[in-house]
Amino acid sequence: MSQNTSHAVMAQRIEAADFLDFFPTPLWATRALCEFILQADPKLSTKRVWEPACGQGHMARALSEYFGLVYSSDAHDYGAGAVRDFLFPGDEPSFDWLITNPPFRLAERFAHTMIDRAVEGCAILVRTSFLEGVGRYKSLFSQRKPAAILQFTERVPMHKGRVEEHGSTATSYCWIIWRCRPHKPDANDVPAMVWIPPCRRKLERPGDYALQVAA
Ligand SMILES: C[S@@+](CC[C@H](N)C(=O)[O-])C[C@H]1O[C@@H](n2cnc3c(N)ncnc32)[C@H](O)[C@@H]1O
Repeated sequence: MSQNTSHAVMAQRIEAADFLDFFPTPLWATRALCEFILQADPKLSTKRVWEPACGQGHMARALSEYFGLVYSSDAHDYGAGAVRDFLFPGDEPSFDWLITNPPFRLAERFAHTMIDRAVEGCAILVRTSFLEGVGRYKSLFSQRKPAAILQFTERVPMHKGRVEEHGSTATSYCWIIWRCRPHKPDANDVPAMVWIPPCRRKLERPGDYALQVAA
């Protein structure tokens, strides 16, 4: 397993094909999830997490501030992790958590695979509109009940191929969390609906936007 999110490596940006949906996540948005998980699990720094669609490693870098070990991979070689297609079984060991911002067109398949592979839990960052739809309700949410939905009250600017300090977006995002063990929801559990209070200013760090080169 390898983890390399150095500035030098991230600066070696390799253009990904359009269909790969490379939209890196501002680091503060990943820290918001970790702060939430940390409340329930103060031992997060002893846990292992897999970021299976790591892109240039933005999310992995924020995860490494909270988790004891971060393993990163992506179907495309951006120079920031192992190269592998997450939707095909590999020989990776088990991880306590799996966390990513999946490619939008594959988000549901990623969710199923992540739930199958996680020991403790998994989380995906998706457009809030991912929550609606009869088809997805039948194939995902009614079958595999999330433990929590964390809705951002601030907008999370997501741009193709880059993070932008002063970016903006009209799109709303949320985290969806599934728990596997020891808190797997039963039939009577209702997913927690949580609003993430404004936190961007508090969770941004110097250097967050120096991790990539412009598209
Ligand atoms: C929305 S970007 C997220 C990047 C990173 N997780 C982040 O938040 O900064 C989606 C990523 O999924 C990758 N991807 C697309 N299909 C994949 C697959 N089948 N297996 C693994 N990664 C894939 C793309 O190359 C891209 O880097």
